[in-house]
Amino acid sequence: MTPLHKVIIKKDTSINPIWIMRQAGRYLPEFREIRKLNPNFINLCLNENLSSEITLQPIRRFDLDAAIIFSDILMLPYGLNQKVEFEKGFGPKLGKVNIDEMSKLDEVDFVQKIYPVYKAIKKVSTNDLIKDKNTIGFVGAPWTLLVYIINQQSPKKNLKKDFYKDDFLINRLLLILEKFLKIHIKNQIDNGANVIQIFDSWAGLLEEKDLPNYIYSPTLNLVNFVKSLNIPVICFPREIKNYKEFCEIVKPDAVGIDYNIDPKKILKDIKIPVQGGLDPKILLSDKETLKKEATKYLNIFRNHPYIFNLGHGVLPETDPNMFDYLVNTVKDYQ
Ligand code: CP3
Repeated sequence: MTPLHKVIIKKDTSINPIWIMRQAGRYLPEFREIRKLNPNFINLCLNENLSSEITLQPIRRFDLDAAIIFSDILMLPYGLNQKVEFEKGFGPKLGKVNIDEMSKLDEVDFVQKIYPVYKAIKKVSTNDLIKDKNTIGFVGAPWTLLVYIINQQSPKKNLKKDFYKDDFLINRLLLILEKFLKIHIKNQIDNGANVIQIFDSWAGLLEEKDLPNYIYSPTLNLVNFVKSLNIPVICFPREIKNYKEFCEIVKPDAVGIDYNIDPKKILKDIKIPVQGGLDPKILLSDKETLKKEATKYLNIFRNHPYIFNLGHGVLPETDPNMFDYLVNTVKDYQ
């Protein structure tokens, strides 16, 4: 059994597998080298030779237990024919939504447009380096994708007042997202992904009254779909105010936590396997602090099924030596 399956399915507390969000990315000089030659981020994700190589870069360097495929949650709106661009120093920029065109989109055309993502997963999952490790496929949660599709860029602290003004548009988009997210998940699994993570990076933007409509129902629907394919699903509803309620309603197989939530509260409130939590900024401090803070999470979850990760993606300015030190700290923990 693979390390993540031992924790998630068998509830094994004798191991703490580790992988890190954004482990394939800008803190690695070998990634920056490829990136420099490939200024178009989407095209890079659609080059299965390069994207599979980038996925494997951190696996070659560090003793990690899983590869997460080098792609992006915004490949989904891209597959739906919305324009998606990444501007240096700005982040993603999306084009206007053409809802009528989106509604007519055919499954075959969607799959064809992002097919290299699935080819990359196949390449990674069949690589010898991944033997006995997990291949993690992922999607953005419907809510977080809705935020990008309507807002056309990352929201700052709050959504614009008129975000919700077109109820009809939102409801149509949610239905389209549900359909194509399932197709996207199924294709990732068919090509070798053996864990699915659902990133809800903007869960924290919602008021409590809106959680059922925008997060609980659509995410539960996806979670049940992944479960029906017999693959474990991890949800990461970042900065959601009530992880307990989320887990009770959505029932993912494991839950990722952010760095603002008290891990002791999570231990008390949550019965399912937990993942992550450590503040990525700790990797910018010194080894002593890093060891102390990482050990804090390991101690708290000593008798609870726990996958080590951060509370958000590793920062681009992280020293790869500190990353290595973190991985070894987790591996040497007794
Ligand atoms: O290693 C991995 O984790 C796998 C690859 C991965 C990327 N994006 C690559 C990427 C994953 C899992 C994602 C998920 C993703 N993408 C999320 C959810 C997680 C989160 O960070 O909250 C979100 C919200 C996005 C959308 C997105 N993509 C943004 C907002 C940005 C710009 C911000 C930034 O970090 O530059 C991206 C670009 C992006 N996606 C990069 C990478 C490595 C940086 C691209 C570059 O080299 O310029």
